[in-house]
Amino acid sequence: MCGIVGYVGPRQATSILIDGLRRMEYRGYDSAGVAVLNGKGIKVQKAEGKLSALVEKIGQETIEGTVGIGHTRWATHGAPTTPNAHPHISGDGRIAIIHNGIVENASSIKKALTQRGHTFASATDTEVLAHLIGEYYQGSLEEAVAAALRDVDGAYGIAVVSADEPDVVVAARKGSPLLVGVGDGEWFVASDASAILEHTRSVVYLDDGEMVVLTRVGYRVRTLEVSRIEKPVNQIEWDLATIERGGYPHFMLKEIFEQPESIENTLRGHLLHEEGSARLSGLNLTDEYLGQMERIIITACGTSWHSALIGEYMLEEMARISVEVEYASEFRYRSPIVDNKTLVIAISQSGETADTLAAIREAKRRGARTVGLVNVVGSTIAREVDGGLYLRAGPEVGVASTKAFTCQVAALALVTLRFARLRHLSVLEGRTFIDALQRIPALIQSILDRAPEIEALAKRCEDATNALYLGRGVNFPVALEGALKLKEISYIHAEGYPAAEMKHGPIALIDENMPVIFIAPKDAVHSKIVSNIEEVKARGGKVIALITEGDTEIEQLADATFPIPETLDLLSPLLTGVPLQLLSYYVAVRRGCNVDQPRNLAKSVTVE
Ligand code: AGP
Repeated sequence: MCGIVGYVGPRQATSILIDGLRRMEYRGYDSAGVAVLNGKGIKVQKAEGKLSALVEKIGQETIEGTVGIGHTRWATHGAPTTPNAHPHISGDGRIAIIHNGIVENASSIKKALTQRGHTFASATDTEVLAHLIGEYYQGSLEEAVAAALRDVDGAYGIAVVSADEPDVVVAARKGSPLLVGVGDGEWFVASDASAILEHTRSVVYLDDGEMVVLTRVGYRVRTLEVSRIEKPVNQIEWDLATIERGGYPHFMLKEIFEQPESIENTLRGHLLHEEGSARLSGLNLTDEYLGQMERIIITACGTSWHSALIGEYMLEEMARISVEVEYASEFRYRSPIVDNKTLVIAISQSGETADTLAAIREAKRRGARTVGLVNVVGSTIAREVDGGLYLRAGPEVGVASTKAFTCQVAALALVTLRFARLRHLSVLEGRTFIDALQRIPALIQSILDRAPEIEALAKRCEDATNALYLGRGVNFPVALEGALKLKEISYIHAEGYPAAEMKHGPIALIDENMPVIFIAPKDAVHSKIVSNIEEVKARGGKVIALITEGDTEIEQLADATFPIPETLDLLSPLLTGVPLQLLSYYVAVRRGCNVDQPRNLAKSVTVE
């Protein structure tokens, strides 16, 4: 999520903008910039990296002016470089814009503009928007912005200034948050209340399709069509720390609840319903290469290794390709069989995990093609692989990975669909898969709406010293992930196992003090897992089961159940993973653990 702040008032704008951006640093970003109207036009200053780099640049040339906009960028299109940083300017330099979101039809707009003689300095969709507004400008900035936005598909939160209207900031919202700060003789616009809280607690929340015009005498809210609408002024009650977490008590809970949106962002622009396939040009893999590719190795660590295991089930079942999943730390030191017909996929939220990076380098040394499924744009792994797909999950601040996990599974579903349609999957089967994928965000939301039921289940685990997670098939990796979540944030020892394996040892652990959590959707192996539940119950074990809605058989067997909606077997981890994230969260909170920064853990393990 990018950070947006704008100011119109009597005070110097630059320091207000920088302070506002500093308040939004927690959201994660990779470059920053400001545009200030300095009496001679628009002064733009931007820098990649942290705000300190921007402040240093500005320090060398202080910018005078009391109207301006500022931005922190979390790259989705284009690497985190200075040319790609915001603000972006129109062809004549008279318009500057900052943007949070994705202009989905940027390439077609850019093509038309290029044909009309425009040239571009960056790889971003935002610069296209700046040029489009510049083309529409005929003396009214707000009308030029409205006209340009009528041409735009996608999501945006923008703020715009013009050298020809030095006392005005125009902002608009569709899909990305924006609010107006109502000060005492000064007005603000921001993507996040934390950016302006020190100046005012009076805010107007914009809704999708709305714009605001800030001037020296006040603000006016409008829509693309209507020049004025009335909106209530709200008072912010939250303190700063709570605002930074979006009102949630912890980043981890915020990120768990962001999953409907983050998965939509992962899928956005890739699904081709007509063809029953997926467009993944970023993988840089030709159909010819994919036709002669013989096997796939997926390498990762931790939670990313669990999503890799789910990818193995997907790719082998749907694309009929041989897949091996390897811990990156093992792969890098053994002598793996790899050649130019082996595709090595690295999965990493941070894109900086040392073992995964080393594994990719080893794979390349041995002649393999490499792709990365990575969240952080421009990260080392993302830059060193031959191609890739960004998760677009947004910054994941909580050390325990949640939305990145489900976005990795969604990305693997896209890759599976693309490969499968080149081999055996029919267009109708592809469309069925796409329809099921597109229903996932809403199904996750229905699970999140019932979070209090999972909080009640947490009571059954909070005093445990051990826990066992059991699943079959594609939900065996979910058992591993559920166990990892519990142990890493609540410090309860937990193990994940294939349910059938329990008889080969772990069943000796069963007693009334150890919760046994079954991931037991109504899938092809449902009857088998019912038997496993009966085996645990016969030994006095306490069973909590994730079940498919309406499964009365397990409901009568288990001590507690949590029903989840139906979906395709291979997509069920996108649903079964969520209640387990919440369960570990509520248990950790009840045990007074530091949920966002668990002891001994780092968000990115950049050392061996
Ligand atoms: C997940 O909850 C853990 N924080 C950890 O296992 C993590 O998944 C692992 O370190 C891999 O990180 P990456 O995805 O950034 O490479």
